Amino acid sequence: MFPRINPTTTTAWNALEQHAEQMKQVHMKSLFQQEKNRFDQYKFQLDDILVDLSKNIITEETKNLLIQLAEECKLRDAISAMFEGDFINETENRSVLHVALRNFSDQPVYSAGKDVMEEVRRVQAQMKAFCSKIHSGEWKGYTGKKIRYIVNIGIGGSDLGPFMVTEALKPFQVNGIETFFVSNVDATHIAETLKKINAEETLFLVASKTFTTQETMTNAHTAREWFLQTAKDEAHVAKHFAALSTNEKEVTKFGIDRANMFEFWDWVGGRYSLWSAIGLSIALTIGYDNFEQLLRGAHAADQHFLNADFNENIPVLLALIGIWYVNFFGAQSEAILPYDQYLHRFAAYFQQGNMESNGKSVDRNGEEVTYATGPIIWGEPGTNGQHAFYQLIHQGTLLIPCDFIAPAQSHNPIGDHHPKLLSNFFAQTEALMNGKTEEEVEQELLQQGKSVDEIAKLAPFKIFPGNRPTNSILVKKLTPFSLGELIAFYEHKIFVQGVIWNIFSFDQWGVELGKQLANKILPELKGEETVTSHDSSTNGLINMYKKMRK
Ligand code: F6P
Repeated sequence: MFPRINPTTTTAWNALEQHAEQMKQVHMKSLFQQEKNRFDQYKFQLDDILVDLSKNIITEETKNLLIQLAEECKLRDAISAMFEGDFINETENRSVLHVALRNFSDQPVYSAGKDVMEEVRRVQAQMKAFCSKIHSGEWKGYTGKKIRYIVNIGIGGSDLGPFMVTEALKPFQVNGIETFFVSNVDATHIAETLKKINAEETLFLVASKTFTTQETMTNAHTAREWFLQTAKDEAHVAKHFAALSTNEKEVTKFGIDRANMFEFWDWVGGRYSLWSAIGLSIALTIGYDNFEQLLRGAHAADQHFLNADFNENIPVLLALIGIWYVNFFGAQSEAILPYDQYLHRFAAYFQQGNMESNGKSVDRNGEEVTYATGPIIWGEPGTNGQHAFYQLIHQGTLLIPCDFIAPAQSHNPIGDHHPKLLSNFFAQTEALMNGKTEEEVEQELLQQGKSVDEIAKLAPFKIFPGNRPTNSILVKKLTPFSLGELIAFYEHKIFVQGVIWNIFSFDQWGVELGKQLANKILPELKGEETVTSHDSSTNGLINMYKKMRK
């Protein structure tokens, strides 16, 4: 059984609470002064990804206590349980095996006593053959033309992952293929997309694990109607619609040929599904071989996660540092700040990955937790964010640990753009750590020729306390392999935190409630009757909407 340990009952938790009181008095600057090789001490590398954890308010004692916490919470057993296919998603009675989707070892992976690898490889072969047909032009649309446009219709995990990855790997895009993502039930999303494509050359991928999600099914039906307005004949649907799903019955009901269904399984969580058939839009956009490189990168990260000692295990350390700030410093959010325009959806992707996984307040024993769990995840690419919200990170009252991510090599080495971009990355992490002392501010103002009075007035506003923690992640180049590794690091970070917080990270009952309520309200929006079945605010809003829509 998955461990069920309340982390606050461990010896390490208690020790960490006391240790945190001391560490709150410590400025990172002094740690760097004391430990001349602090960078070497806290830098970790796997292949082409370097992770520098040195700009954190931690010492060896912190690290050891956090690792002790992980051990007391039986993290090692929990990792084994996931990789061995135990039903660790207990509230849905399922294994959690996204790692099987990128397993390139010859080891079997079992779920309910059955090796899933045969099925995984069967679907991968189907995806590969399909990509080759589309790219070579062997697969033709109903008028005999090659497919040029791919439209992925999906939401949440059936959208965010593939969208993030295809954006991140644009330099690897196959010539002659353009990919669009439609997620929102707001008709604007599909309407604006349909303006850019034509029925003859478009392939719609209906991406839905359940094939019942309101937004996706609504968009899929709209796309089908739009297609048929031009193609006229239902028989042509087979050439232009494919399904990525676990639900064969619903796929067939929708009218998609079983041969055009790319299957995955209930042990793939929606927000961990880009590695499965849900990644078909990725494979079609960057080519199957590049998609495989993405999987291989994730597999390398999986092996590292599985085998590396906790004291050099990148996802484990990222998770523990996160816990350090959430539970012992009261941090409520974490920012993910990629200094790479191609990664512009990376924070949004892990917003779902993290918040849907660890946004829980009931522990694995069914008890209300008495400690903080998943933080708010947000972020935007640098340097844009610098001119938007960094002010608060530097001088606001909230502690916001940040992950800075950048590639050392740009795919667009034009002029001095990249050195400028990276100089901002390094400058920001340095400034967040060092801040600016009163003395430095006074000196600066003096040099600008300010009077003593002016200096006294201005100085308080120009002082930065610093001591704001950051993780720096430097990737040699953003490639399918390195991106796969990076994503898997973050996935495993979320897993580790969920284990320690003693919560179930792989269900999402809170989201299900919203879906149920929307389904109840939808019929009430029909007709003109006054609605009275809700609270006065909800009734009032619905009834005003009914008046205003005329
Ligand atoms: O938002 C809730 C959720 O269940 C996510 O977990 C999932 O990724 C998304 O809806 C889409 O679900 P489906 O793939 O079944 O359409």
